[in-house]
Order: sequence, then structure tokens, then C-alpha cells
Amino acid sequence: MASPRVISTISELRAAVRELQRTGKTVGLVPTMGALHEGHLSLVRRAKSECDVAVATIFVNPTQFAPHEDFSKYPRTLEADLQLLATANCDLVFVPSRDEMYPPDASTYIAPPQVAQPLEGVCRPGHFQGVATVVLKLFNIIPADRAYFGQKDFQQALVIQRMAADLNLPVQVVVCPIIREPDGLAMSSRNRYLSPRERQQVLAVSRALTSLQEAVGRGERDATELKLQMQNTLRAAGIERVDYATIADPMTLSDLARLDGPAVALIAAYVGTTRLIDNCLLTAPTGSPQDDPAQG
Ligand code: PAJ
Repeated sequence: MASPRVISTISELRAAVRELQRTGKTVGLVPTMGALHEGHLSLVRRAKSECDVAVATIFVNPTQFAPHEDFSKYPRTLEADLQLLATANCDLVFVPSRDEMYPPDASTYIAPPQVAQPLEGVCRPGHFQGVATVVLKLFNIIPADRAYFGQKDFQQALVIQRMAADLNLPVQVVVCPIIREPDGLAMSSRNRYLSPRERQQVLAVSRALTSLQEAVGRGERDATELKLQMQNTLRAAGIERVDYATIADPMTLSDLARLDGPAVALIAAYVGTTRLIDNCLLTAPTGSPQDDPAQG
């Protein structure tokens, strides 16, 4: 289990990647904000299985946080992260400083695609502008063959896929399944904010999605009814502050009133002061779920 090489400057990273590519190696990129868990590691393992070299990045990107959000308290656990990356056979880790990524005179931002507008776009204005900008910068710094993102952040993955297509980026964007705790909770760096009581309460989020899949499996097609059911499950667990619990078209994220084809259920809710998101794909009319929140 070799430790990954840690690089903090763009010039050194560019030189390292150029050298690898000169020798014909393919490169898989895994952008992260650190505080790593099995969800992140699953992306690194997938990158390693499909590419010769896996490059992870750890950068808590200030431009995707609003002033009132958790940028300053976002967990930073670099030593543990590097150990975890070693277990996943990650080859290179890029850990830039804020100034390396955003020199004080930087002022160019990406206008994200249409699909960034609903849901998170409403609740976190400016968030996807920051995400799209930093991801495009990472794509330019590391000209990877493939880049790996989690379905956990469903809308983010769509935004990046759309950006890559719209801007003709020569990278293949790969979206990987959600990794969950054994009890169904989707892994997240923010789960460590939860108190023991909140950790119990939060299970209502994945449970709401599992129950929804069951209802769809029984033949329920009325999305309004299904949304109510999700909201009731959350409320019954004392989760009152729900940004959204909705069912949408998985390509456009426009709201659905009926399930007549592919659909995605998405939840964003506060448990205490912690904002968590989760989702699952639904398939109608057969109703066979593509992502089961109860699966590890
Ligand atoms: P972060 O929240 O650290 O997530 C990094 C990647 O890990 C994302 O693609 C995310 O979807 C994926 N991921 C997180 N939890 C997961 C889980 N339980 N199962 C599978 N994949 C999971 O997302 C970001 O960072 C940032 O916005 C970033 C893309 C790095 C830009 O700053």
C-alpha cells in the first residue's frame, strides 16, 4: 500500500500528469473537498479500475459556499484522507492552497447550464457557479481521460455532464452509485456534524426514498401523492425544515406530476442545523428501482 504523491502546485501537477501521459498512461480524476469516506473511495477505486492512474483532488472550494454556509467549519482531515487514499491505491493527490486556485486577481466564473437552476439552484444561489468554475479549472489543470462523480450529488453530476458536453471538454464524465451506511444513510462528509439523536432522526431521509420505491413498485404513479408520502415520512421523524422532497425528470430536473417514465426522487432537508441531500432513481412503468437506498 504505497502512499500517494502529494502535490500542491499547479505547475508540479501539470508536469507529473504530462509525464504520465507521455508514457501512454490514462488518467482518472476524482475531485473532492476532503473529509473522505467510502463514497469518495469508491470513486477512486472505480478510477483505478478503468484508468492507469488515479488523481484525487482535495480542495474546500470557497466559491461554492454562500457567506452563511459552513465553509469555515467544513471538516478538514488531511492526514486521515491521505491514509484512506493510500488504501484505495490512489497515485497522486492535488492539495492546492486557496491562492493557488484563486489568485487574488482572479475574476472569471462559469455560467452553469440550465439544469443548475431548480432545486439546489433555488436553495443555494451561486453554488453551481462555484462548482462549475472549480471543476472546469481542475479539468484544465489535469487533462484527465475520465472524471468520476457520485450520484449522491445528482444535480451536480448533471451540471458537470452538461457543462462537459456544452463546452466540448475532452473528458468522459462517469457517474457512480451512492454508497450508504449499513442502515441506509447516504455517506457524506457532513454526517459527522450529526449528534447521536440526529443520526437516528436522519434515517427518515433514506427511509422516505425506500418507501417511495416500494409505493412505485406497488403501482403508484401519482407523483403528487408520492411527494406527500415522502414529506409525511420526514415530518413524522421531526424533520420539519425540508428544502425539497420532490420527483423530477432525471435529465432536466423539471417537476413531474405523474410517473410515466424515468424519474428521480430528490430530498434536501435540515436535521438540526445540518443540511443533507439524498436521491434515488425510480423507473416506471415497470417500477423496478435502479438504486436501492437500503443497499450498502
Ligand atoms: P465532495 O462533497 O467532497 O464530493 C466529492 C465527490 O464524491 C462528488 O462527486 C460526490 O458526489 C461524491 N460522493 C460524496 N458522497 C458520496 C457517496 N455517499 N457515494 C458516492 N459518491 C459520493 O462534491 C464535491 O465534493 C464538490 O462539489 C466538488 C465536485 C469537489 C467541487 O468542489
